[in-house]
Amino acid sequence: MLFTKKHNLQGEITVPGDKSISHRSIMLGALANGTTEVQGFLQGADCLSSIACFQKMGVEIENNTATNTVRIHGLGLRNLKAPQDVLDVGNSGTTTRLMSGILAAQSFTSIVNGDASIQKRPMKRIMTPLSLMGADITSINGNDCAPLRIQGKTLHGIHYQSPVASAQVKSAILLAGLYADGETSVTEPYVSRNHTELMFESFGVNIRCNGTTATVQPASHLDAQQIHVPGDISSAAYFIVAGLITPDSCITIKNVGINPTRDGILDVCKAMGADITLDNIRNHVGEPTADITVRTSSLKGTVIEGALIPKLIDELPIIAILACFANGTTIIKDAQELKVKESNRIDVMVQNLSAMGADIEATEDGMIIRGGKALHGAVIDSKLDHRIAMSFAIAGMNAEGTTEIQGAECVNISYPNFYQDLERL
Ligand code: S3P
Repeated sequence: MLFTKKHNLQGEITVPGDKSISHRSIMLGALANGTTEVQGFLQGADCLSSIACFQKMGVEIENNTATNTVRIHGLGLRNLKAPQDVLDVGNSGTTTRLMSGILAAQSFTSIVNGDASIQKRPMKRIMTPLSLMGADITSINGNDCAPLRIQGKTLHGIHYQSPVASAQVKSAILLAGLYADGETSVTEPYVSRNHTELMFESFGVNIRCNGTTATVQPASHLDAQQIHVPGDISSAAYFIVAGLITPDSCITIKNVGINPTRDGILDVCKAMGADITLDNIRNHVGEPTADITVRTSSLKGTVIEGALIPKLIDELPIIAILACFANGTTIIKDAQELKVKESNRIDVMVQNLSAMGADIEATEDGMIIRGGKALHGAVIDSKLDHRIAMSFAIAGMNAEGTTEIQGAECVNISYPNFYQDLERL
């Protein structure tokens, strides 16, 4: 797909539903008693993988793709059926890791596998704590990656000190903790996104959060809920940056989730001097939303590190683009997790932005970007990573000449109508 220089992006946009919340709605809905109705569900390939996996375990799920409404007829905590086939997670790390926590406690054995990218992503981070709980979970190829074989067992509560701030690891343990014979807690180096904890609370689970520790009590049952999924701030991020760096622009993104464990990009924009305002702030079961308006801004470099990193981990590729359009240097540190996402996002960003003429260098745990150098068009290998493709679409719209994105269709993972929405502005 080809991109050329643009100016004057104007208008309002509503981005699709939050990916993390959409996944969790399927999982908790499947385990609840009664019918859970989800509005604003993300029809991205990752979330459809979660639906397909739970359907394979006997859960009736109706997905109205015209209205983005999903009805999940929950089977209750202990009534999932043994799947007849491999549980195919596609490209979805969230499905793989969260579902593994559930599978570890079932009365059957399952095999979890996905695409080439999933088969390279680290699973030891969930295998270790789940094994400590008594789970029987093995990497079939012995490389600590999928395919995984999970034989359900009786689980024990643990108090786990996680070496990484990862909501997928935390959530896998908390989901397994629903089935444990005692209390389970997870402590992280920094707070990661808390959607599982918030949704547990609404489904009636006894969960407590204190600083970087989340503690869950075993559950007897979950009560079906009505869920309103807010717009995904990780999808809004592309329009936020487009509005800030494209000349003569003003964009409003409606109904975006601004959960404080996810809103790091707003902090970064403010630190860089962006013209960004939040209106119409509302709250639904602990998940706040706002309309975000951005205008073309003169930006300066910043340092992004420490506790801020988990709050914007998925936005770092587009933030690297933003930094190219700021005066001065932006330093991203403590972000080694970028290397184990859908692609190695440090290498892929540095390689592609260098091809466009940016002054960027990779470090052990992040990147250093010296902003202010004009970008020129280039051929971009997305590595089939949705966040790379979307980031370079915005870069290409602000570069001289033509930018060609290879594998552009991978946006389908989290934002199927991304290019159409961009076109409208
Ligand atoms: C997610 C957690 C993050 C994030 C991913 C979604 C989640 O991953 O990058 O896109 O829904 O819990 P990690 O937990 O591996 O940091």
